[in-house]
Amino acid sequence: MRITPINEGFAAEFADVDLTRPVSGDVVAAIESGMNQYAMLVSRDQALNDDTQRDFTRRFGPLEAASGGHVTATSDRRLPLDMQDASNLDQHQRVLARDDRRRMFNLGNRLWHSDSSYRPVTARYSLLSGRIVVTDGGRTEFADMRAAYDALDNETKAEIEDLVCEHSLMFSRGILGFTALSEAERTMFEPVRHKLVRTHPSTGRKSLFLSAHAGAIVNWPVPEARAFLRDLIEHATQRRFVYSHVWRRNDLVMWDNRTTMHRVTRFDESQIRDLRRTTVAGIAA
Ligand code: OGA
Ligand code: MN
Repeated sequence: MRITPINEGFAAEFADVDLTRPVSGDVVAAIESGMNQYAMLVSRDQALNDDTQRDFTRRFGPLEAASGGHVTATSDRRLPLDMQDASNLDQHQRVLARDDRRRMFNLGNRLWHSDSSYRPVTARYSLLSGRIVVTDGGRTEFADMRAAYDALDNETKAEIEDLVCEHSLMFSRGILGFTALSEAERTMFEPVRHKLVRTHPSTGRKSLFLSAHAGAIVNWPVPEARAFLRDLIEHATQRRFVYSHVWRRNDLVMWDNRTTMHRVTRFDESQIRDLRRTTVAGIAA
């Protein structure tokens, strides 16, 4: 297997391995080491299906369940409970209507975020498989939260070192004006707390743990916290920290949610875009 950098220190591509077949422990170790170095990896021409995608993902740890992260009734799901649907399709493989509640909720993916930062235990890796892709827009962009942390001045680093943020799907959806939630959804989306500065357990590198789901800083006035979080996200998503992925069919893109943020860019939603995500659960901090 070969790993070739796309950017200096952030984003790389790996090739010469077929992920539709069981891979060796050496390959898994090489991919983990690539993830530690580059924070995100791309592999082209991986014709995965839901079973092979899940089998490969499980090599890095248990899968995270989708429950608690969306507003889709179980009976309306298109994908199994241990996969996350990043498509614009309903359970009958039809494009969601413009004002469909599921589509409006999924538009939250247009905001820079880290997957499952709204959960008490946040996600480790996400793996996104491009089954049907669009050619215009619909890119997935990634920002390197390690480089963004390193580029802060020492004063800011000292100020944020011990800050704790509150994350909730209510905050990210609130940014988009999606506020009509049932009592059950409000309970499910109860805010959780995470440190703003995280140290990666394998590399010891520090990074900013930011996300559109972050809507408060513990012991700060809310407007001040939101203004500051906005400043930090603006800093962290400067183009010099960003890799923008142009999808080809059967691309597999994987990223470390502890050290990156990502978002999808706008596209013509009359076209089918079928991307499916598996997620490696994190470990309680
Ligand atoms: C995701 C996600 C972005 C995309 O699946 O977690 O944010 O490009 N997807 O669909
Ligand atoms: Mn995401």
